[in-house]
Amino acid sequence: MRVHLALVDLLQEVQPGALLMGLVADGISLEASPGQFYMLRVGEENDPFLPRPFSWLRRGGGACGGGDRVEILFQVVGKATARLARMRPGQKVQALGPLGRGWQWDPGRVPLLVGGGMGAASLVSLLQWLPAHERSRVRALVGARLGRQLWCAHEMSRMGARVLVASEDGGEGFHGTVLGLLKEREGHLLQTDTEIFACGPRDMLREIVMWASRKGVPCQVSVETPMACGVGVCLGCAVRLSSAAGYARACKEGPVFRAEEIDWDWDNG
Ligand SMILES: Cc1cc2nc3c(=O)[nH]c(=O)nc-3n(C[C@H](O)[C@H](O)[C@H](O)COP(=O)(O)OP(=O)(O)OC[C@H]3O[C@@H](n4cnc5c(N)ncnc54)[C@H](O)[C@@H]3O)c2cc1C
Ligand code: FES
Repeated sequence: MRVHLALVDLLQEVQPGALLMGLVADGISLEASPGQFYMLRVGEENDPFLPRPFSWLRRGGGACGGGDRVEILFQVVGKATARLARMRPGQKVQALGPLGRGWQWDPGRVPLLVGGGMGAASLVSLLQWLPAHERSRVRALVGARLGRQLWCAHEMSRMGARVLVASEDGGEGFHGTVLGLLKEREGHLLQTDTEIFACGPRDMLREIVMWASRKGVPCQVSVETPMACGVGVCLGCAVRLSSAAGYARACKEGPVFRAEEIDWDWDNG
């Protein structure tokens, strides 16, 4: 884990309010594994004071070697993301990472990726990381509020996965949530060696985990709990565990957990 002063080489709105950002720095993604994240500090006046966490989406690309460039996808929701969106290629941003524990892929299992909203970004990194011949075995379900917010789904499809989409406005694909889509298609989607990898809003994750548990399907989840330090010091990202161990830090022991590790009745506010 290192602090990188990264050059922005790409900033492009790819769907309403969501921007793809390319970050270039020596070795920035050399050790990045899928599901890990970076803490980005925006602006020089410490405003906002705290850095913000973002999953990496893809490594390499542009004119750079695989270890020197990373892309993130972010939705503008508040001060830091609005500042990121106002940056211009050629400017620099401070990026700490890669951080946390990411997805654990078992070659004996077939991934079923389930992403809601910006949570799909973390799953794109897993897909990119898989050997090319494995990608065509991957099934992915991606849901969004609007049919125009499914850029990640189209990228996954371009990368070789078999993708189904859901939108709550009915603009594209299944009319409803990604869980509704999963339930409707479960007969086609589930095999004996399926493992679910899910990332998205907490309520969505909880529903997916309950459903997977009823079906006996192994499941990993990435919990995108708000974070302050990102390096295990402030305890602001604590997640309650189902075991006597009590709590885990999403930034250090996570953000990816096995579904059964988490106490899903926990509410971190
Ligand atoms: C491990 C991890 C990976 C993430 N990856 C991505 C990513 O790839 N793309 C992306 O767009 N976002 C991602 N996020 C969320 C992102 O960090 C927040 O959207 C960002 O910090 C918002 O900063 P802001 O100053 O713009 O908004 P703020 O002013 O801080 O917040 C605006 C609103 O968003 C809510 N909010 C902020 N952070 C979160 C969160 N983590 N979960 C739910 N609600 C939140 C706040 O409660 C508030 O209502 C990730 C979060 C984590 C923990
Ligand atoms: S964000 Fe500080 S301990 Fe996790």
